[in-house]
Amino acid sequence: MTVDLHNYVATVENFPEIGVDFRDISPLMGDGLAYKQAIDSIADFAKNLDVDLVAGPESRGFIVGSPLAYALNIGFIPARKGGKLPREAERASYTLEYGGENILEIHKDAIKPGQRVLIVDDLLATGGTINATREIIEKLGGVVAGVAFIIELEALHGRDKIMQAGDVPFLTLMTY
Ligand code: PRP
Ligand code: ADE
Repeated sequence: MTVDLHNYVATVENFPEIGVDFRDISPLMGDGLAYKQAIDSIADFAKNLDVDLVAGPESRGFIVGSPLAYALNIGFIPARKGGKLPREAERASYTLEYGGENILEIHKDAIKPGQRVLIVDDLLATGGTINATREIIEKLGGVVAGVAFIIELEALHGRDKIMQAGDVPFLTLMTY
């Protein structure tokens, strides 16, 4: 049995700022069937991409990336917000749909040159978060094997921004 994942997204108008429709995946994560279906769908996409590692940005990317890495029997790399990692890290800055500039960091020894990394997150908005994650992975010598999201906000054209940085296999489970 499959479920319509749209029924597990709560839309909150004007959060966290006036004019933003916030797409909250908490109901999806809170439902065993819907959560498993989402992760299994991304795992299916990953099967043909020869992936060595999964990476996800803090914090909702961890909710998608960790169970995915477990399902694929491979490791997970957190891209953490600035100043959280204890050892030497590579970093990149970016701007969000709401709020100002942010920094993401990945430990320098997290990726070996040539390793193929699948980047995942709950949601693609402007693409800033994913492109910053990608920039760090590529600086460390990794190869982005693909990108996958539960939700894509089409009006913000994040997909175009990702492809401008170089074509990669792309999956979204739902668009708004
Ligand atoms: C949200 C979301 C994505 C990002 C998408 O994270 O989980 O990571 O914004 O926006 P973008 O495509 O415009 O970069 P947020 O930074 O709000 O952090 P959170 O996961 O800790 O809530
Ligand atoms: N991250 C960036 N934009 C968002 C939105 N509209 N809903 C949920 N998370 C987001």
